[in-house]
Amino acid sequence: MILSSTTAETKLELEFADLEASPSVEGSLVHALRCAALAPSSHNSQPWLFQLSESRIDLFADRSRALPVVDPFDRELVISCGAALFQLRVALQRLGWRTQVDVLPDPHTPDHLARVVLDGREEPCAETRILYENLTLRHTNRNPFEARAVPSTLVAEFVRCARSEGSWLAALEGPAKFEAAQLISEADQRQFRDPHFRRELAAWMSSGHIQRRDGLPGSVLGLGPIEATLAPLLLRTFRWKDHERAARDRELALGSPLLLALGSWHEEPAEWLAAGQALAHVLLAATAAGLQASFLNQPVEVSNFRHRLRELAGYAGFVQLVLRVGYGPASAATPRRRLDEILLETLAEPTQRLP
Ligand SMILES: Cc1cc2nc3c(=O)[nH]c(=O)nc-3n(C[C@H](O)[C@H](O)[C@H](O)COP(=O)(O)O)c2cc1C
Repeated sequence: MILSSTTAETKLELEFADLEASPSVEGSLVHALRCAALAPSSHNSQPWLFQLSESRIDLFADRSRALPVVDPFDRELVISCGAALFQLRVALQRLGWRTQVDVLPDPHTPDHLARVVLDGREEPCAETRILYENLTLRHTNRNPFEARAVPSTLVAEFVRCARSEGSWLAALEGPAKFEAAQLISEADQRQFRDPHFRRELAAWMSSGHIQRRDGLPGSVLGLGPIEATLAPLLLRTFRWKDHERAARDRELALGSPLLLALGSWHEEPAEWLAAGQALAHVLLAATAAGLQASFLNQPVEVSNFRHRLRELAGYAGFVQLVLRVGYGPASAATPRRRLDEILLETLAEPTQRLP
């Protein structure tokens, strides 16, 4: 059964209230896992696995959920895991735990992305409290945003959030924004000309009548029930709506009050993990400020556009993601897998209470 977002939120709130009153280690670890699992991931693939032990959580990449066409080096896969890692940290810190994070702790096990150890008790800071409150409110919103500008103080705050995780963030403005929108549209057309890309995307779309706990429901892609049912088949078979999509994404980029490039200094897994943490930090801070966000990563995914995008951002290194940010009505939640599906090993006591 898929929990509706409100049921899931209520469950998290109740669990949090219990834990705040009596913060058991095991209960905190399980609660933090639920919060980590709410992280964004490419195609909602949720490519993470966790292992719980006495006072620590280990995070592993689940490469069986990789997207070899759009993400041949598992770059976005590791970024997605980085976002989950950030949310895990926020939840543990909110529950009053000091955390010690060891990134890529075993050079012989590249799938072992991080180890998070509870390192005593510590009162959560104001920022942690705010970020935590927004974990269940953040959703990718692919609708057009209002023209209302995002205050420059907020942009500076997002830049700080990304830097605090070891990444950089640049606002694409004026001619750079215009050219980035053009690159997005051209990259869109290239991707949708590739039948392998379309087939992979179709495999991660929910076709309406089949309920699944991962992938992209038609509703969040702006499709009605009939279109959502037909979309995977149409995408697999034809270059369905590709010109329309490219034009729409260009308009979305141009019409967004804020277009951001998030990047790293080097192209390696440790920096992808940092970029994922930066992503979650920025998105939760944006949600807290009443903003909506979505991704326009196409020119990062099409290799020969990525270099130009970096020049437009004006930074050394590598653009990892492109985000559009603005004001507008909130959008709906996407489903998540159950905890028993993302746990490598379970603790005897708390996990008996998992759904
Ligand atoms: C690394 C990464 C890349 C993503 N790329 C895209 C993208 O190119 N286009 C898009 O619409 N959404 C993209 N997303 C958003 C995911 O589709 C979204 O996070 C997922 O469906 C879960 O939904 P939620 O963010 O509302 O929880 C990306 C997310 C991540 C973490």
